[in-house]
Amino acid sequence: MDYDILDINLSKDGIKKIEWASNEMKVLQTIRERFKKDKPFNGLKVGCCLHITAETACLVIALKDGGAEVFLTASNPLSTKDDIAASLVKDFGINVFGIRGEDSDSYYRNIEKVIQKEVDLTTDDGGDLTTIIHEKYSDYLKKVIGGTEETTTGVIRLKSLENDGILKYPIIAVNDAKTKRFFDNRFGTGQSTIDGILRATNILLASKIFVVSGFGFCGRGIAERARGLGAHVIITEVDPVKALEAYLDGFEVMSIEDASEIGDIFVTATGNVNVIKKENILKMKDGAILGNSGHFNVEIDVDGLEKVTVEKRVVRDNLVEHKFINGKKVYLISEGRLLNLSAGEGHPSSVMDMSFSNQALSLEYLVKNKDKLEKKVYDVPDDIDYEIAEIKLKTLGIKINELTEEQKNYLKSWKSGT
Ligand code: ADE
Repeated sequence: MDYDILDINLSKDGIKKIEWASNEMKVLQTIRERFKKDKPFNGLKVGCCLHITAETACLVIALKDGGAEVFLTASNPLSTKDDIAASLVKDFGINVFGIRGEDSDSYYRNIEKVIQKEVDLTTDDGGDLTTIIHEKYSDYLKKVIGGTEETTTGVIRLKSLENDGILKYPIIAVNDAKTKRFFDNRFGTGQSTIDGILRATNILLASKIFVVSGFGFCGRGIAERARGLGAHVIITEVDPVKALEAYLDGFEVMSIEDASEIGDIFVTATGNVNVIKKENILKMKDGAILGNSGHFNVEIDVDGLEKVTVEKRVVRDNLVEHKFINGKKVYLISEGRLLNLSAGEGHPSSVMDMSFSNQALSLEYLVKNKDKLEKKVYDVPDDIDYEIAEIKLKTLGIKINELTEEQKNYLKSWKSGT
């Protein structure tokens, strides 16, 4: 075994958290039981670049039970839960590389360690593992059967590899599955972002002016939850359709320039760069709180903020006070890194159950269909998506109706009108 973790003695806490998470991940447990019998990954190495959390632990354990040798590295330097990493190594024999708070060199070195194991399949969250293989390891690209991608930002990146004609193995865009995006991005990011803000600040949200930049699935999840806690929510958007949708959903919509002057809390969830610029930060009220829930720490101009900061101090875990020359202070959560995983625990297990079931079944699909797939970004096959929804409903004890033959025929026919 090979690993690079903080402290193996933390495993005692880690294993309890993994057990707790697995209770909420019944779909993945169902898949795991089948994997134990079918062994779809026998003899294969799977390289995973994922947030090292209890939920990820449940995924990699299922892959190992399916016959895989798993190598797990972090997909963000601040999201690793060191006790989970310890338990994965000690209790489950998984090779883990990641320490919370590691620097950028160590983060990339660990990704390369996984690549050097010559993996057959890749599972990515953000695209770092896949793009580094493409950039630096062209020889061994031929060996890789395929990969999966967990998040919106990663899918955009890998589609751009495809568009540039340099994608060298098939990728399944797990993010885009219905049973991922509709739940993880919305209910997961919604709840975990609020959780991260509250753990970092413990502020009262009721009555606060809460600015959300981006009204995609993640942004709308955050906005809905913030409103539920009594905040006045403002949306900033660049897409006119989404902006209109936000407006009709009852949110106030305005430019970031206008919102900067009145907001108490600012959260970015756009997947784009410099959404909150230095000029916007300078206009903010004394005491404004800023955080990001997008995958990369590019949405808030942290470098610009540093330049205008004359004094800085850590005021709580994951919260830094920045003082400007005029005495005004603003507070930045988790260095502008994705706060739901760095200040909070990430999405609840019950939504990750569906996301990671998509991962598990998509990896199995790649192996089964390896001779048919091209070097393209594929959607998760519909039958996988619907199978996950069906098992999830079953584990929740929910029965739904089926279309009758008459209804099926009606839907197929153009003949009946009014
Ligand atoms: N992404 C968001 N929440 C997560 C979690 N709990 N585990 C792994 N990846 C995540």
